[in-house]
Amino acid sequence: MAENLIINGKDKQELYETLLPQLQSLTAEETDIVANMANIAAALKQTFDFFWVGFYVVKEKTLVLAPFQGPLACTRIQYGKGVCGTAWKEARTIVVPDVEQFPGHIACSSDSRSEIVVPVIRDGKVVAVLDIDSDKLNAFDETDAEYLERLCKQITI
Ligand code: SME
Repeated sequence: MAENLIINGKDKQELYETLLPQLQSLTAEETDIVANMANIAAALKQTFDFFWVGFYVVKEKTLVLAPFQGPLACTRIQYGKGVCGTAWKEARTIVVPDVEQFPGHIACSSDSRSEIVVPVIRDGKVVAVLDIDSDKLNAFDETDAEYLERLCKQITI
């Protein structure tokens, strides 16, 4: 169980409950996926102060870096490689409590300690992944997985 995060007196469930409807209406009014991914990354970073949050989009046989907030990141990830490539291949959310324990983890920053990757699935295919890194161990749990999956289903990207 990850430690319960409290920001401004709200636990993370309350924060997601507030944020998701806002992001849904924000992205529903905009058809450009880059604009929407950019605002989603910014809103998640601002709300939770994650170390790194952003998207990789599927382009042919590679994941390519898309809008993000945080330090510089690797630009391309192959199918099945790292946490992102594995989430793409297996079309499922992956929670990594300690990145050092994930075989093949791609370290874009040595400050990243735990990670969650959620696939964005459209018409049965993974079209992108949402990747969030924390500089704390064990930062993500089922609550993050549930709300971020809901976010990735609802949003216009
Ligand atoms: N750690 C990821 C790579 C992307 S960065 O964390 C931004 C992975 O193993 O797929």
